[in-house]
Amino acid sequence: MTEEQKKVLIATQKRFALDAKESMIKVFNNGNIGYHFLEGDGALIDLVKEIPEYHGLVVRSDLVTDELLEVASNLEAIVRAGSDPENINITKAREKGIYVSNTPGRNANGVAEESIWVMGAIARNLFSAYESMKNGEFLPDDFIGHELEGKRIGLLAFGHIPKLLSKKLSGLGAKVFAYDPFVTDKKVGEEYGATLVDNIQDIFEKSFIVSIHVPNLPDTNKIVNYELLSLMSNNGILLNTARPNSINYDDLKQTLLEKDGFRYASDVNKVIFIKDNEMGKFHDRIFLFPKLGAQTFESNIRTATSAADHLDDYFNKGILNDCVNVPLPEEMKEYALLTMSLGKFNKAFIDNPIKIEIVCYGDLNTHKDDFKQYVLKGLYEENLGKKITPSQALEFATDNNVNIITREPDPTKIYPHSIEIIYHSSDSSSHKIRGRIDEGELQVTRVGEFKQNIPIFPYDTIIVQYTEKAGMFDRIGNQFTKYGYNKVYGGFGPNEDRDKAMTFIQVEPNGRVKGVEDIIKDEINPMKEVYRAVNINMK
Ligand code: 3PG
Repeated sequence: MTEEQKKVLIATQKRFALDAKESMIKVFNNGNIGYHFLEGDGALIDLVKEIPEYHGLVVRSDLVTDELLEVASNLEAIVRAGSDPENINITKAREKGIYVSNTPGRNANGVAEESIWVMGAIARNLFSAYESMKNGEFLPDDFIGHELEGKRIGLLAFGHIPKLLSKKLSGLGAKVFAYDPFVTDKKVGEEYGATLVDNIQDIFEKSFIVSIHVPNLPDTNKIVNYELLSLMSNNGILLNTARPNSINYDDLKQTLLEKDGFRYASDVNKVIFIKDNEMGKFHDRIFLFPKLGAQTFESNIRTATSAADHLDDYFNKGILNDCVNVPLPEEMKEYALLTMSLGKFNKAFIDNPIKIEIVCYGDLNTHKDDFKQYVLKGLYEENLGKKITPSQALEFATDNNVNIITREPDPTKIYPHSIEIIYHSSDSSSHKIRGRIDEGELQVTRVGEFKQNIPIFPYDTIIVQYTEKAGMFDRIGNQFTKYGYNKVYGGFGPNEDRDKAMTFIQVEPNGRVKGVEDIIKDEINPMKEVYRAVNINMK
């Protein structure tokens, strides 16, 4: 009996270029995968009727609704042929066991090039001059422009697109500044010709042009507001080729009102200005494009081919590359939590590892790749002090050039149900954190050179490392009880050479008068024996 042929629906309102479609067809034919293209305006509506037949789905910015996921009874994998799959409810897809992936970076050059052409054209007044000539005018004196060479250009975020843009702009002699709270290693900026700055204000204050590249996240909603726009010069240019949510449009309107030379360009929003009469009065200073960033033959070919390759690999080899919602088997979910906690424990040694190795013992080894995103989630959440999704964590690692790999376990070492993470820092030092689940209890079993069982409980967990000295555990613990904390759990132990020791204390506030971080700063760090003290938030 022959196996049923897998079928893929490519449902895109915006058509792929012909060459891109041909490239996809080649991949599908070679992989013995059936396909059907549904393009143009009707695509989204028709999708609901068509979808139950298909095992794979390729979309662009098209909204994959919950209703659609509900009726997608045979669907196994969706590929967003593009970057952020924000148009797909990935949680809902995961619930239904549908994998979702994307094709990160494949559109980046298209968007970076578009950004540079739009910046240059506005700086030189080319769009306005063109309009004027269409009206039969010849007014060169009205359109004296600026060159980009020597100008300060600010990039908000420093992922795939702004990195490429920065390289191109610095080739033109522009001075590029970038701000990205997740890319802090100045060397990464230098590699692409940008100076990374530490706060968002610097991007606006110092730049003739600001180009927005932030993803659509709760934190980036209306991030570009009056306070920032007021820092730009009267003839500043704001460009958005990312997502529409990042701009506070009332504040933008106010800025256009107050600064008579200010210009705004957007490649992301088809309705807001066209329908808004008040914005209409700035028509000669607002430049809109119908989401053309990725609309090049080259980007289309890269993205479409990559999407087809993803589905071919998935249907023929069982691996979905760039998967953003790895549905772990039920029994592995607790291990995902364990790896997240081990990611947080990196803080006990270094803040920014450049390489991370994961070693999984026993049956866990089958899932080692699935754990990568959870290690990174724990690590970045702890460093940034806020919640992020596993796929964002993977993206931050890529943006920061952090190499995360898996390694086969040493067969002579038997650590049942254990996962080990080795963090490498730029100074060539490395630190090992190991954990396991024992009788249903998650615990850390090794922190660097210290072998110690630390239960993973939802409390502040204070880790203090010091040169060995009797009485330190009590001295450290007393600082917390003194300020109104209950010690819930704690322990201490030396390293193998017995010249250093580590204490951990899990505390709970009880009429608290001082924050844990402040106690560490004011009471623990000044102890002359202490060389590293941190609080890990396990809540
Ligand atoms: C992307 O996310 O890659 C870009 O926004 C391109 O979107 P598009 O596929 O709708 O052109």
